[in-house]
Amino acid sequence: VDLEAFVRGLPKAELHLHIEGSLEPELMFALAKRNGIALPYPSVEAVRAAYAFSNLQDFLDIYYAGASVLLTRQDFHDLAMAYFDRAAAEGVRHAEIMFDPQTHTDRGVPFAEVIEGLLSAMAEAQARHGMTSALILSFLRHLSQDAAFATLAMAEPWLDRITAVGLDSSEVGHPPRKFEQVFAAAAAKGLKRVAHAGEEGPPAYVYEALDLLHVDRIDHGNRALEDEDLVARLAAQGMTLTVCPLSNHKLCVVDDLADHPLDRMLALGLAATVNSDDPAYFGGYVADNYLAVARARGLSRDQLAQLARNSFAGSFLPQEVIASHI
Ligand code: ADE
Ligand code: ZN
Repeated sequence: VDLEAFVRGLPKAELHLHIEGSLEPELMFALAKRNGIALPYPSVEAVRAAYAFSNLQDFLDIYYAGASVLLTRQDFHDLAMAYFDRAAAEGVRHAEIMFDPQTHTDRGVPFAEVIEGLLSAMAEAQARHGMTSALILSFLRHLSQDAAFATLAMAEPWLDRITAVGLDSSEVGHPPRKFEQVFAAAAAKGLKRVAHAGEEGPPAYVYEALDLLHVDRIDHGNRALEDEDLVARLAAQGMTLTVCPLSNHKLCVVDDLADHPLDRMLALGLAATVNSDDPAYFGGYVADNYLAVARARGLSRDQLAQLARNSFAGSFLPQEVIASHI
């Protein structure tokens, strides 16, 4: 089979996906119309044309603006269902999806609307595709730790349906240590922990994610490669890195996909995985990410299969379920 069919047929887990980042311009327009919201763009084409970013913040400004069309639980259901249908069609068997409640609750959308819409889509994905999923509640790091605590309190009635907490948004200037206490509180409630670290921020932020937030995975982690001791530590403990090649290219974390460090990570013994991050904004879903980096770096099928195995091994599924996928 050709490379594309091989990649699509490879059973995969997706571990780094912001559900708000899967909002395609077509659905953005449909929801704007349904909710009577005016968008600052005349057309779907104009929206896509605006997706040229020179760094993370450029993207985040547009991403938060796009999320303004999401108001009701039906909107969140439709958003997530579009992602699950697409992911299932390209071999994703399990998805651990992040959502940013503060992006919605700060606009007056009740937490219950957001999470109930996502949960109903997750149930439908299981019924329709046999696809499993989990929720990661992400705190926005440009906001305060107190705001994160308030969000965790809002989530209390649903904690049995939330697998982990995460940390995303503007990295530089908002180090992991800012959220040490709220991550400890989440851990005490039995939640797993992930954090974006080393996307734009320095290796010191990856150390803080490990030592202060006690994370179970590092989202991105690219800049860990600047520190040999850190690489050795991540490799020795088998820490999963959720790497996002097309995102890295679109946000100028790497200048050229041909220079992407994914295979260097594998060669260093790091448990790297491939993920789409914000597929509607970065030009590709998870299979597109495998394919693009495979072509740019000349990855072998063995390497691609290793990346797919790493995605299940790094998931929060029970060990026996992981074993059944690998
Ligand atoms: N929110 C959505 N995508 C993100 C990314 N790649 N980094 C930080 N915050 C994000
Ligand atoms: Zn991300």
